[in-house]
Amino acid sequence: MKIKSLIKYFRLILLLLFSFMLSCGGDDDINVVIVDDEGEIPISVDFDITVSETNTFEISVNNTSTGITGLNSYWQFTENGESVPDGAGPERHVYSVSGDYLVTLTVEAPDGDIAVSKTVIIVGDDDSPALKNAAKGFSVGMAVRSDRLTGSHNAVLVREFNSLTAEFEMKMDQIYKTEGSLDFTASDAIVDYGVANNMDIHGHTLVWHNSIPVWMNNFSGTDEEFETLVKDYITTVMQRYAGKVRSWDVVNEAIEDGTNNLRNSIFRIRMGANYIEKCYQYARDADPNAILFYNDYNVTFDSGKQAAMFAIVDDLKSKNLIDGVGAQMHISYNFPRRAQIQSVVDGTVSRGLKMHFAELDIRVNPNNDITSLTEQRAIAQQNKAKEVAEIYNAIPDENKFALTLWGMRDSESWLPAFWGQPDWGLFYNDDFTPKKAHTGLIEGFR
Ligand code: G3I
Repeated sequence: MKIKSLIKYFRLILLLLFSFMLSCGGDDDINVVIVDDEGEIPISVDFDITVSETNTFEISVNNTSTGITGLNSYWQFTENGESVPDGAGPERHVYSVSGDYLVTLTVEAPDGDIAVSKTVIIVGDDDSPALKNAAKGFSVGMAVRSDRLTGSHNAVLVREFNSLTAEFEMKMDQIYKTEGSLDFTASDAIVDYGVANNMDIHGHTLVWHNSIPVWMNNFSGTDEEFETLVKDYITTVMQRYAGKVRSWDVVNEAIEDGTNNLRNSIFRIRMGANYIEKCYQYARDADPNAILFYNDYNVTFDSGKQAAMFAIVDDLKSKNLIDGVGAQMHISYNFPRRAQIQSVVDGTVSRGLKMHFAELDIRVNPNNDITSLTEQRAIAQQNKAKEVAEIYNAIPDENKFALTLWGMRDSESWLPAFWGQPDWGLFYNDDFTPKKAHTGLIEGFR
């Protein structure tokens, strides 16, 4: 055996003997760090968190790692938050609002960073209640994606929301990508999450001209075969989620902007002008307990489009094929006016139907005149959010259903990509803290 190995072997024996003696020494809480046979102390990363007893928004973190002498380390006090160097002794951090926050300590070790995370729950005063607790008599919904149901997304969802809508993963182009084969992987993940967290689930959407699978657009079968495809799809999806998905946008955005006629979609072309009635009949037959909605946008300020929508709704209502109206609230900080938003509520309530303020986001840069969210626009957004919440809150209880936000953090919104310009239309900052717009909703719900 070579000299070097002998020395290592001898040293290891000595260390084992030393630790044995210590453990016999009576004071058994002395942690002996075994130096490995390379002569290095293994790195063990850990830390303690304590919440201040005098300020429930303040935490103190202490790095209790071992084997990190000479190594740099840093803190992050929210998921993907900014890095704060780890200095000597405990570090303080003060949060601005209550919530569940992911705290991470990262040690820059020679063989690569080692990170350990822990969640701290900041229970603030009752001045920052959760949206779902501030709302009375209706659900507060969030548009979700299957890859955003954990970590801080989960923390915000379970704290603030009691309704979910799949932003895109329960649409036909996602479930029915391949002819003859339905893929429920993502939709099941969302539904299972909602069920596990006792949330209402709003199914969006079964029939929409913007989510037609490529193969269906090129379907070479007969019109009757096409109609059977659609009927079977609606039936299969709704029966799969019966008892879990309480409501559905059966048909979405069927009205052509400008003409206010039915869009000349493949559904209308191949199933006939009464395709909408057929789809709602399939839906009613598939899950008689589901609450069936018609969903469209610009039905507040565009009186022609609103009238066209209510004509469809009236026809469906006469056949007991509809239960609610979804008014998509893709609005701006300065538009539409309160009276215009109120008009779609009045039309829905007068028909005895459920009102869903669906897809709420509030553009603050519709004219592309700001390059960051200014204080002035943030306040204007808060005021608009309060107005929308006040309008919804004033709806008669029997017509209330849900107010759904179309995304969580500004950085996750569809708006910038769609409009090709920056915007900050949602309700949470990138660190998951609520924006003024969130406060506006709370104010309006009260
Ligand atoms: O996440 C995948 C990514 O993995 C993939 O590489 C990429 C390219 O295929 O697609 C990504 O998914 C996209 C998804 O948005 C997330 O960004 C889908 O292709 C894209 O179709 C989807 O767009 C959604 C759109 O509806 C179409 O379904 C938007 O998120 C969603 O905000 C938008 O929502 C609509 C409502 O359903 C109806 N009312 C209007 C509203 C805005 O258009």
